[in-house]
Amino acid sequence: TGTVTYDPGFMNTANAKSAITYIDGAEGILRYRGYPIEQLAEHSSFLEVTYLLIYGELPTAEQLSDFDTLTRRLTLLHEELKGFFGGFPRDAHPMPVLSSAVSALSTFYQDSLDPYDTDQVERSTYRLLAKVPTIAAYAYKKSMGQPMLYPDNELNLVENFLRGCFGVPAEPYELDPAIVKALDTLLILHADHEQNCSTATVRLVGSSQANMFASISAGINALFGPAHGGANEAVLKMLREIQAEGMKPEDFMEKVKKKEAGIRLMGFGHRVYKNYDPRARIVKGLADDLLARLGGDDELFDIAQRLEQKALEDDYFVERKLYPNVDFYTGLIYKAMGFPEKMFTVLFALGRLPGWIAQWREMIEDPSTKIGRPRQLYVGAAERNYPGI
Ligand code: CMC
Repeated sequence: TGTVTYDPGFMNTANAKSAITYIDGAEGILRYRGYPIEQLAEHSSFLEVTYLLIYGELPTAEQLSDFDTLTRRLTLLHEELKGFFGGFPRDAHPMPVLSSAVSALSTFYQDSLDPYDTDQVERSTYRLLAKVPTIAAYAYKKSMGQPMLYPDNELNLVENFLRGCFGVPAEPYELDPAIVKALDTLLILHADHEQNCSTATVRLVGSSQANMFASISAGINALFGPAHGGANEAVLKMLREIQAEGMKPEDFMEKVKKKEAGIRLMGFGHRVYKNYDPRARIVKGLADDLLARLGGDDELFDIAQRLEQKALEDDYFVERKLYPNVDFYTGLIYKAMGFPEKMFTVLFALGRLPGWIAQWREMIEDPSTKIGRPRQLYVGAAERNYPGI
């Protein structure tokens, strides 16, 4: 009823009141529950940030230890859910495998589907936090044609995930503490970002009272697109193409500026940040350290740095306030860690999971939540009579 506002892309529409994440796009500020992202990235852990996002406050040492124990205990997947992975083609992209398996959690864990039962919501929270890394590692193993490893609950979430991806039953897997730390930090940087496309999707699906597994499965599919989480994979593809064609970064930039065939500088620009993305600054620092240590692809890193430098000086990018976003350098780090490009967006999903959970719970707990139901401006035919064939 009343006036309908046309706002494609929801550029000016707030879909929620939220106390979770604060962004000031003009100043390049990001805070989770009030804490600056820079402080969390430097001093905190992904598990601690997960607790913070979901429960609103940083945990005490005891709360964190209990939370850790609870989530570690639930890492195993139902054995029949494991069989599910056999149904996908070997070359399947792991993102739809992940979203399908997360959707299937609704069928295996039917005692945690009621959105209004707080115990059930807690159970599905722990289950998702514990099982999504296992599912992600299984999706990877499937794509490699390697046997899946059962989780080892002596290890924490990040360690278990790395072992699940890179370990093989035939020999012990040695964790590299520098990789564990870097991945933990990258997950913190991705953990929430207010009403982005996937989070808004989780809330919209959840507003129909769909359970948390179903809602988050939808969020994973939204994240898959190259304009959103799929950008980290798209950046590497772009860098490889520039390398393979022996193109100068300057020449590639000319194509971008001419909008040739819709080419964009992937990993640049953001709906909210009209300044340097604070996450990208931290990622750049990580890339400098880790690529020097692990010996990443120097040529691709060099192309990326030249593109960035060129863009920061170019009127096209300056006028439109286009800066590197979180995805610009992450792919190079993931590659140096040994992940194939197909896994990059899965790593984003692992990081974003606590944010999706926190936002879904905030939506369900908010008495002012209504089913998400946008209106439209009808532009079709006026009434006309059916003429007969
Ligand atoms: N390269 C070249 N031009 C660009 C780019 C880019 N990466 N991004 C925006 N523009 C131009 C665009 O062509 C438009 O120009 P004009 O005013 O002449 O029509 C102007 O900048 C505004 O762009 P928009 O598409 O209207 O802005 P948006 O807020 O709708 O889109 C975005 C935001 C992130 C989808 C877009 O910047 C983009 O496509 N970037 C590349 C993909 C990418 O890196 N995505 C990851 C985003 S951050 C992490 C995440 O959310 O997952």
